[in-house]
Amino acid sequence: MNTSARLARDIDGKAIAAQVLSEVAADVRELAQQGVTPTLAVVLVGEDPASHVYVRNKILRAKEAGIRSLERRLPDTTSQAQLLAVIAELNTDPSVNGILVQLPVPAHIDEGAVIQAIDPIKDVDGFHRENVGGLVQGHDVLTPCTPSGCMRLLLDTCGDISGLHAVVIGRSNIVGKPMATLLLHAHCSVSVVHSRSVDAKALCRLADIVVVAVGKPQMIDADWLKPGAVVIDVGINRIETDQGSRLVGDVDYASARTVASAITPVPGGVGPMTIAYLLKNTVIATHLQLKHAALSLLPTSTQEA
Ligand code: GUN
Repeated sequence: MNTSARLARDIDGKAIAAQVLSEVAADVRELAQQGVTPTLAVVLVGEDPASHVYVRNKILRAKEAGIRSLERRLPDTTSQAQLLAVIAELNTDPSVNGILVQLPVPAHIDEGAVIQAIDPIKDVDGFHRENVGGLVQGHDVLTPCTPSGCMRLLLDTCGDISGLHAVVIGRSNIVGKPMATLLLHAHCSVSVVHSRSVDAKALCRLADIVVVAVGKPQMIDADWLKPGAVVIDVGINRIETDQGSRLVGDVDYASARTVASAITPVPGGVGPMTIAYLLKNTVIATHLQLKHAALSLLPTSTQEA
């Protein structure tokens, strides 16, 4: 139990995402003065209703930030070769700065091959192996959106997190692994807890920071937390209740907030940050491409290694 009997404060993802989006919009205005309009291409294969909602949201938010978007909607029957051809065309189109292929793709298409086909400098998801490796080694690369958003929430909430013990629950390529890497770069001691961990709960109870991304509704309750822990809940799960369906996280919010010092609600916590960082990545990709183009104009002897 929270010894002070005070409830954790909410970490307001909507407000912090709005701040990120206003930074993005300012950057977009500056680029406009150089005659550049950052452009995001979103590729959607098939009819998955949730994916359609996500893509619509991404395009809407892009427009609000002044980012141009292109949409490529392809039918379920699209072959892998056809999808790769679309990506190749977007890779070579100089007016396209960011490429996102909404996942999951239909089962007959190899997701890994699709990710690897995207030019790493346009890979606004940060999923390409070149970007994953660059992130691990601490280079300036495009970094996955959800973990980047979680880091911003943590830094805004805690200030310096250097030396703190962070536990990441879940080890996916999209969230868990890059999250652990970013926390390590912020000088945390990092433990990654997963389905095979022996006594996951005991490990979690040692954490100053807990980031949960397991896709299991309300799995983490007060009993998993050290008093005063800061909790970032990445999960978005729809559950049925007597009052109809509602969205919940991977954390049992009502229970956890009796012990934690700060916690992200669901919805309104991590969710808005993911889109904000997708747009931030589109602007970062645009800058990387401008730098790349400028460097390629220099004589070879003066180019940086
Ligand atoms: N589907 C669910 N989350 C994501 C994401 O972060 N990026 C892409 N491309 N597809 C997704």
